[in-house]
Amino acid sequence: MRVVEFTHGKGIEGLRHVERVAREPGAGEVRVAVRAVSLNYRDLMGVKGIYPQAVPHPVIAASDCAGEVTAVGAGVTAFKPGDRVANTFFHGWDDGPVSLAKVSESFGGNVDGVLTEELVLPQSRLAGLPAQMDFVQGATLTCAGVTAWNAIVEFAQLKPGARVLLLGTGGVSIWGLQIARAAGMEAIVTSSSDAKLERARALGATGLVNYRKTPEWQHEVLKLSGGEGVDLAIEVGGQGTLSRSVASTCVGGRVAIIGGVSGFGADPEFSPMSLIIGAKRMEGLFVGSRAMLQDLSRFVGANRIEPVVDRVFGFEQVQDAYRHLESGNHFGKVAIRVGA
Ligand SMILES: NC(=O)c1ccc[n+]([C@@H]2O[C@H](COP(=O)([O-])OP(=O)(O)OC[C@H]3O[C@@H](n4cnc5c(N)ncnc54)[C@H](OP(=O)(O)O)[C@@H]3O)[C@@H](O)[C@H]2O)c1
Repeated sequence: MRVVEFTHGKGIEGLRHVERVAREPGAGEVRVAVRAVSLNYRDLMGVKGIYPQAVPHPVIAASDCAGEVTAVGAGVTAFKPGDRVANTFFHGWDDGPVSLAKVSESFGGNVDGVLTEELVLPQSRLAGLPAQMDFVQGATLTCAGVTAWNAIVEFAQLKPGARVLLLGTGGVSIWGLQIARAAGMEAIVTSSSDAKLERARALGATGLVNYRKTPEWQHEVLKLSGGEGVDLAIEVGGQGTLSRSVASTCVGGRVAIIGGVSGFGADPEFSPMSLIIGAKRMEGLFVGSRAMLQDLSRFVGANRIEPVVDRVFGFEQVQDAYRHLESGNHFGKVAIRVGA
């Protein structure tokens, strides 16, 4: 079978198609014909050598796929050939609170990922796809979808009517927008591009701010949220955005620390006092569990959410797909089709 390997720090040019030997599923294992993979910012971090979970040798790239079950080993009860599935992000986090052991191995991080024609995994590393989702859409659930779900549902425990702030229009943020709107929440979106803001409006965004034209965008977010601020900011920006996200949240509000598309260094404008006087809670989140993936999958099925996929590349165009993600020109997710 053909797989795409990357080596931490070797750049996009270091991505290589290579042959690996396929194997039959053992007891409790499932074989999946991978049909689509989606990319995440962390995949760029891996090739650039700045992803914290790293190993010095080549591993199969990427964390998120969807595909079709083609064989099951002895004792597999959850799946049968023909089932459509997506994988979990971690090897060890089934359910419950996070722990070191649960997040110590992540697909396409420090162990082999999913950018391969075929996968053999324990049945506990998979969840069923919602019936209406195609494989490309299904391949966006694992990381971006689950992370947004974790922030909105598990961490902030928001109710319909709550207000959520999404920074930029990348994978996590557009998933956050789609989940928030389907759950009856207001969603304020920032972007560097008016054209992208219009696309966010079409998806139901209730407030729009261009962060290039309005560098102190937190004031605009406050205005758009009745002067009170949002209940949750999903903080994917980092440097230069953290203090503004905190300022955008209401008293008692929450900031989910997710990423650093504008840099992972310290935000010199951030002051702990802004958390104290606002009685605000800030928490780092690391994707999520298999139970969250299953809950998200049910929610997406019930609400017929169609995740936004900006562009789909072929299996031979993997480097182009990475470069498209790196350009930041995308809106939502970037995907790669695998196999037939
Ligand atoms: N903690 C976790 O478990 C977890 C899980 C998933 C992702 N992440 C992290 O979350 C971040 C987002 O991941 P992703 O895969 O969604 O990335 P992505 O799709 O590559 O997002 C790129 C988008 O970020 C926006 N952006 C860039 N600079 C910005 C700024 N200064 N302010 C606001 N938006 C800005 C841009 O939107 P516009 O073009 O609209 O301006 C850009 O298109 C990454 O840092 C990633 O490492 C963490």
